[in-house]
Amino acid sequence: MCGIVGYTGPREAFDILIEGLKKLEYRGYDSAGLALQDGDRIRVVKAAGSIAALEKRVRGQIKPLQVGLGHTRWATHGRPTDENAHPHLSCCGNFAVVHNGIIENYSALRDWLRDEKGHVFRSETDTEVLAHLLEEFYAGDLLEALRRTAEIVEGSYAMAALSAHEPGRLVCARKDSPLIIGLGEGENYIASDITALLSHTRRAYILEDGEFASVTAEEVKISRAGGEILQKEVFTVKWDAVAAEKGGYNHFMLKEIMEQPTAVRETLRQRIDTAAGRVNLNELNFAPEELCALEKIYIIACGTAYHAGLVGKYAIEKLAGLPVEVDLASEFRYREPILLKQKHLVITVSQSGETADTLAALRLARRKGVRVLAVTNVVGSSVAREADEVLYTRAGPEIAVASTKAYLTQLIALYLVALYLGDLRKALPSEEAARLVRDLDRLPGLLKQILAEERLSELRAYADRLARWENAFFLGRNLDYAVAMEGSLKLKEISYIHAEAYAAGELKHGPLALITEGIPVIVLATQESILDKTLSNIQEVNARGGAVFAVIPEGRGEIARQVEGAFYLPPVKDLLAPVLSAVPLQLIAYYAAVARGCSVDKPRNLAKSVTVE
Ligand code: M6R
Repeated sequence: MCGIVGYTGPREAFDILIEGLKKLEYRGYDSAGLALQDGDRIRVVKAAGSIAALEKRVRGQIKPLQVGLGHTRWATHGRPTDENAHPHLSCCGNFAVVHNGIIENYSALRDWLRDEKGHVFRSETDTEVLAHLLEEFYAGDLLEALRRTAEIVEGSYAMAALSAHEPGRLVCARKDSPLIIGLGEGENYIASDITALLSHTRRAYILEDGEFASVTAEEVKISRAGGEILQKEVFTVKWDAVAAEKGGYNHFMLKEIMEQPTAVRETLRQRIDTAAGRVNLNELNFAPEELCALEKIYIIACGTAYHAGLVGKYAIEKLAGLPVEVDLASEFRYREPILLKQKHLVITVSQSGETADTLAALRLARRKGVRVLAVTNVVGSSVAREADEVLYTRAGPEIAVASTKAYLTQLIALYLVALYLGDLRKALPSEEAARLVRDLDRLPGLLKQILAEERLSELRAYADRLARWENAFFLGRNLDYAVAMEGSLKLKEISYIHAEAYAAGELKHGPLALITEGIPVIVLATQESILDKTLSNIQEVNARGGAVFAVIPEGRGEIARQVEGAFYLPPVKDLLAPVLSAVPLQLIAYYAAVARGCSVDKPRNLAKSVTVE
C-alpha cells in the first residue's frame, strides 16, 4: 500500500498533487515526495515524514510547474528515509518514477544495472531499479521504455513515470496494484485511488493488469503490452470523498476485513515455494546452528498480537517440537523472566512496532543477551529497528483501531516461522511440511469464499440479535480457545458488549453459573480432533438455556441442528483453521457494533498505537 497521484494540464501541479496525496495518506504515510517537470529537467522534493511536513518545507520554494507525479509511501523495502522516499530518479536525472507494489527480482536487476551498465543507486528500495531501467531502455519513446521495463520486472506494480525528454507526458502501467486515469477538461490525472481526484473529476479509466497508458493534457491513450490501442469505457464515480477513502465501505474496519485475502497473499509472497514444498525465510539472518541450539521460545505481545502469539505457540510446538511460552508484554517486563543467552529466542509481535510494553520487553531480552525476532507490520518502526531480525507482515496500513488484517498476517508469519524451524531442526517430515505449504497457499482463496456477500448476510443477521445483549461468551478448545479470546476482544472493544472467552473445558469449573436463558454463547468448534469434546460443552450450554452460535467445519450439519445458528468454514487443516475462523468473529463484532450505533473505527477510550505504559 502506497499512494500515487499525477497531473498534467495548465494548472499548478504542486497544489493538486499535495491535495491528492493528503487524500491518499491512509494508504501509507511514512514519507512522501513530488517530481515536477521544469523545462528540460525534473525537480524532485521528497522527505521522510508526513505530507503536511513536506508541504510546509517546500511551499513557496519552487516556481509554478504544470506537470508532476506525487507519492506517499508505506515502506516495504528500505526504511522510511529521505533517500528511500519516492519519486526515484535515474542516474542522469531525466527519468522519475513512483511505484506501489513489490519488484520481486529487484536485487538481480540492480546487480545487472550496477555491475554491467554502470548505474549508481542512491536508495535501498526495489523501486529505484525502475528509474534506471527506463534510462537504459529509452530510445525516444517513454511508453516504449516502460513496456520494456515491464517485460523484465517480476512482482506487483502500479508505476508511473515522467521524463525531462518528453514535457507534458506521464506514462503508467499496472499489475496486481490499482491505478486509474482521471479525465478532466484540457487536463488529466493519474491516481492509485479515485479518492485523490474527487475534487477534480468523477470520470476515470480503470487500468487493468497488463495495460499501459500515455497521458497528456489533451489525450489519454491506453494500450496493451504489444502496443494494441484499447477503447475503454469511462467509469463514473458515484461515491462521495469519505466513502471513496474507505474504498466504498462504511468503515475502515470492514474495508480491512475485506482486504484480508490480499494481505495474507502478500505475507506469503516469495516466502513459500509450493513446488518444493518448503518455506523460504532467507530474509532472516539467524545462523542455522543458532536456531537448532534453541531450547525455548518466548512470544511477547499485547492485545490482538498476543492472541496471534497463542496460535503461534501451538504451531511452533507442533511443527518444530520446541517449547513456547506466550506472555503479555506488560507482564513479562515486570516478572523477571528467566532468559538464557543462546538457549532462548524472543519473538515480539506488534502491528505498529511502537507498543511501549512490547518495546520494553524487547529491550529487556536484548539486555540479557537473548536474540529477538520481531514480527511487525511497520517498516522502520522502533521494534523493527531494535530487534535482531525482522519478519514483516505485509498487511498494508491498518487504520481501524480494531486489528483485523494485521492479526491474520501475524498468524501467517508465525506459521512460517514454525515451518521454517521445523524444517531446520528436522522435527517435521518433509511430506507434511509440503502439504502445509500447499494449504497455506490456498488460504487467500478460502478467505474469499468466507467473505462472499451471502456469507456476510448470515453473520449480519446473527449480529443484529447479539447486539441486543449486554453480555456474551466465547468458548473453544486449543486453537479454538486462542481464537475465542480474539473474538471476545473484538466484540468488546468495538460494540461495548461485555464478552468473556473461556477454554470450553473450564466451563464446569465456574463459568457455567453465568449461563442463563437465551444468553449468547459463540462456540468455536473447528478442531476435528477434539470436536466431540466441544460438542459436549455445547450440550452443557443448551441444557442451561444458552443460545449457541457455532463456527463449524463444512459438512457437519448434525452440529448445526443442535445450535441456534451456525457458520460453516471451508475444509482446512486444524492447525490453519484460526486464519478462517477469526473472520466470522471479526464480522460479528463489526455488525454488532454497527447495529448498536458505535464508533466502529475509533472506539471510545482506545488508541491505535499504545506508545505509553
Ligand atoms: O501495534 P500492536 O500490535 O503492538 O498493538 C497491540 C494492541 O494494542 C492491539 O492489538 C489492540 O489490542 C487492538 N486494538 C486490538 O484490536
